[in-house]
Amino acid sequence: MSDPLSLAVFISGRGSNLGALIEACRRDGFPARIAMVFSNRADAGGLTLAREAGIPTETASHHDFPNRDAFDAEIMRRLASYKVDLICLAGFLRLLTPGFVEAWRDRMINIHPSLLPAFPGLDTHARALEAGVRVTGCTVHFVRSGMDEGPILIQAAVPVMDHDDEAALAARVLAAEHRIYPRAVEMIAAGGFRIDGNRVLTSLDQDTPPSLLHPW
Ligand code: GRF
Repeated sequence: MSDPLSLAVFISGRGSNLGALIEACRRDGFPARIAMVFSNRADAGGLTLAREAGIPTETASHHDFPNRDAFDAEIMRRLASYKVDLICLAGFLRLLTPGFVEAWRDRMINIHPSLLPAFPGLDTHARALEAGVRVTGCTVHFVRSGMDEGPILIQAAVPVMDHDDEAALAARVLAAEHRIYPRAVEMIAAGGFRIDGNRVLTSLDQDTPPSLLHPW
């Protein structure tokens, strides 16, 4: 078996997607391990999850740097002490500079709680309810410099119920997020796809389907 994919997970808060990745990495045969967790907030709840799992953590506040370039250079410097194959953004609330994004092109993914390109940015569930969509979901995509932009690796569709409020919808989508983020990592570890413009084209024998319907 080839070496497991070595991940850096970037967070800013609660870290439940980090938790899902930690769980997945504990599974026999899961093709990745987490080398480090980076947070731009020292009080991010997810840091506790990482420490409990014995994963090295790094924190740096963007407030301590004069501009985005300087902050991203610091992240780059921190990453350099680890062997990292893939960065997983998991609720990381900072837009990275084009230079950083380019340096990690096709080696950095993000999870977003909507069916992109619908509802990029914040408050996705409130906006989905406001728009009256019947189906929403979540997306894992390769990162490009525009916010929540980039070739889509996997999506899960989640129904919107008549009685949903923002919290109920967020919880249903989050459960789907926890399923697709580890799958996205498995897909990357398995290879067998190519990026063609905005499309990620998988080979037919891929055993991790690039879309799924979340059961309800
Ligand atoms: C998730 O909904 C993720 O899709 C979005 O930010 C949220 C982070 O939640 N990018 P958590 O910190 O992983 O619990």
